[in-house]
Amino acid sequence: MKRNQDQDFKRIVSIINKVTDFNLDHYKIKPLRRRIHSRMRRLGIDNYEDYTNYLATNKDEVTILEEALTINLTRFFRNKAVFEYIKDEILPSLNNPSIWSAGCASGAEPFTLAILCHEQNLNCSIVGTDIDTESIKKAREGIYDIFSMKEVEPDIQKKYFKKVGKNYKIIDKIKERVKFQQLDLKDISFESGFDLIICRNVLIYLSREFQEQTLLCFHKALKPGGYLILGKVESLVGQAKELFNPLNLKNRIYDKR
Ligand SMILES: C[S@@+](CC[C@H](N)C(=O)[O-])C[C@H]1O[C@@H](n2cnc3c(N)ncnc32)[C@H](O)[C@@H]1O
Repeated sequence: MKRNQDQDFKRIVSIINKVTDFNLDHYKIKPLRRRIHSRMRRLGIDNYEDYTNYLATNKDEVTILEEALTINLTRFFRNKAVFEYIKDEILPSLNNPSIWSAGCASGAEPFTLAILCHEQNLNCSIVGTDIDTESIKKAREGIYDIFSMKEVEPDIQKKYFKKVGKNYKIIDKIKERVKFQQLDLKDISFESGFDLIICRNVLIYLSREFQEQTLLCFHKALKPGGYLILGKVESLVGQAKELFNPLNLKNRIYDKR
């Protein structure tokens, strides 16, 4: 029974790999299983075999599952202490900073950085990338629900957002500071030149090998002394441990050696 289940799970993975350009081989198995189970529960399906058949015959389900697997949760000023540090300790030392938000979901993170740069009269160039096409589309629209706004101070909200029905739209002055691009971290093509790379709550879903490879690419893409910021529960692995200095470990902030 267990063997059959494993085979069916592998079939699910191979269907996704074949039909989309999303390669599940780079992801940890446990969270993948958990999210596939949750999707099956919603459909009232209680075994892999039935779900595999359902997937094979419903193209929409492949898209829905892909969305569920890449969970795109984000919000403005997520983990405020990180942005306090960026505002007080990092931005004042930079001139026209070049910033990359890797795995930016629908864009709240790079827009938060654009707001901070604007507050300090800094000319910046910011790129936000994500594997998920739908998230990049949302980021380009720049419209957010109340959940994304829960850590935004009222004065910042007033200055940088316009209320559109129940939602909040980022103003054009900030919107035009960020360029968005669909990009899988396994295909990183940026060679160098960033002052700051922020990649939070992304590595956690990736296999150890893919994490190591991605961190080496970040190292290459940063200017000497450039900053790297990871998520609260993420840390340096492999060779990257020797390549960065911890600046503020609590908030996972490092600089390039
Ligand atoms: C939980 S969100 C994090 C958003 C934002 N960084 C934050 O912390 O608020 C994780 C994002 O990583 C993206 N992602 C997952 N695998 C990726 C990959 N291989 N390449 C690029 N982005 C990826 C997902 O699509 C998702 O939008």
